[in-house]
Amino acid sequence: MKLVVLENAKRAAGYAARLLADAVARHPQIVLGLATGGTMEPVYAHLRAAHRVGLSFAGVQSFNLDEYVGLSPDHPGSYHSYMRKHLFDAIDMDPARGHVPRGDAPDPVQEAARYEQAIAGAGGVDLQLLGIGKNGHIGFNEPPSDGASRCRVVTLAEETRRANAAYFPDGQTPLRAITMGVGTILDARACVLLATGATKAKAVAAMIDGPVTPDCPASALQRHPDVTVICDPAAAAELCETTLRETELRGA
Ligand code: PGA
Repeated sequence: MKLVVLENAKRAAGYAARLLADAVARHPQIVLGLATGGTMEPVYAHLRAAHRVGLSFAGVQSFNLDEYVGLSPDHPGSYHSYMRKHLFDAIDMDPARGHVPRGDAPDPVQEAARYEQAIAGAGGVDLQLLGIGKNGHIGFNEPPSDGASRCRVVTLAEETRRANAAYFPDGQTPLRAITMGVGTILDARACVLLATGATKAKAVAAMIDGPVTPDCPASALQRHPDVTVICDPAAAAELCETTLRETELRGA
């Protein structure tokens, strides 16, 4: 794992966005894996800005990590809505190429299997953007999640439902989601994980310094050959000294 600690959250998001934008510029037909959540909002702001100054997404395909079961694409709390608002409506990618699991599919189990096949059918994900939950989840792979898990229907942890309650007018985060599995994520050719803020410090330390364990699903990334973890100082605060010494520290 390569760890980069930037001087603040804004620069960390900018660095993550730059990795994605450079990859799109180099490989216009790239298959991106995309993430949602508060951490990613400034990343997408950077990508929208990159598009305004000429970066084309016309050849790109993307697969989002997850979606809530029961929500239609036009529900304001859905990740379909999130992606339209933060990225898809502002770039030149054909909307049909921006894949998000259908939370309103009549059979969510079948939809998860279809999604797994759709990723494989596109040739797999070249570059996967990831956030991390306070409990160490990636996608909606809540602890414990097996490192070999594939796209499936999961029950959300109470902590995750609380963390996302603000996105729902009634404060009621759905109970279940369709998510790429940990194994699905590990199949991506490269991963970029962005973590900012003190609430992520424990999960970041467990992911990098802890054992590879289903109790911290993100720790499975230790087994991946090409992962870049990008943090601000608050999210990096609980990493051990040795890890921090080996870190690529970047200032302004
Ligand atoms: P957040 O979510 O960016 O809203 O903190 C990250 C995650 O749960 O993966």
